Amino acid sequence: MPRLLQYLLTLTGPFVVAALLFTGWLAPPVVAQETAAPTVADPLPAPLQFYMGREIAPYMTFHGADWLMRKERQAEEDCSKLIKALKIKPGQTVCDMGCGNGFYTLRMARMVGENGRVLAVDIQPEMLSLLDKQLKGKKIKNVEPILSTPIDPALPEGKVDLILIVDVYHEFSYPEQMLRAMRKSLSPGGRIALAEFRLEDPTVPIKLLHKMSKQQILKEYEPNGLKLVEQYDELPWQHLMFFGRDDDVAETPAAK
Ligand SMILES: C[S@@+](CC[C@H](N)C(=O)[O-])C[C@H]1O[C@@H](n2cnc3c(N)ncnc32)[C@H](O)[C@@H]1O
Repeated sequence: MPRLLQYLLTLTGPFVVAALLFTGWLAPPVVAQETAAPTVADPLPAPLQFYMGREIAPYMTFHGADWLMRKERQAEEDCSKLIKALKIKPGQTVCDMGCGNGFYTLRMARMVGENGRVLAVDIQPEMLSLLDKQLKGKKIKNVEPILSTPIDPALPEGKVDLILIVDVYHEFSYPEQMLRAMRKSLSPGGRIALAEFRLEDPTVPIKLLHKMSKQQILKEYEPNGLKLVEQYDELPWQHLMFFGRDDDVAETPAAK
């Protein structure tokens, strides 16, 4: 009990003290309020450096964007063959995952036509602004640039007919979370088209960290709920493998 209160009690008795409290002349002792503990948002898990025995490559920064638009790319990678193998149809919703400055985005936009749309996803705003310049210059209206995070591609659930990932997957520092989210985003019959430089082929002139073997790709995709539905082995430097959801009963061509 505060000293002043004790003193008054001995001098005047409890009735006078009660009267003083009641009329507000004497402030009652302040009771400390329990404050709610601050809520802390769940921290991100640490990005991986290895996944299932494979070393993850650092992502290619926007400083290398010119390499993606180099003149020799068509001759080296036969990009027209790759895009044809995707069998994109007008009106579809497709995604260029890790679109960079939009080499494939622009081609996909043409294929889906004005009734379709391309979700162009990347984690680097600089890449998206390079893409944006091209979209404005070419007056392309059916592309939606999406700034994502390394753990979340920010795709709508159940809506995407095809996700193209060219030379990107091996850079994912959260491969499981990315695979889970991409899987969820697929529409019935929807597919992921994965292109990676062939690790098995020493004549492909790309750094080892940026190449993948078929065996490693299957090792990582299958336990994450994705089944191989088709393979296209006609590209000069890359594997092109198509995956669907393992619980998808929609018609998919058999794997070769
Ligand atoms: C080598 S570039 C390939 C660009 C494009 N696919 C092409 O073939 O022209 C890799 C791109 O993937 C992006 N990337 C890396 N990790 C990513 C992630 N988790 N989500 C989305 N984009 C990612 C990088 O920012 C970079 O723009």
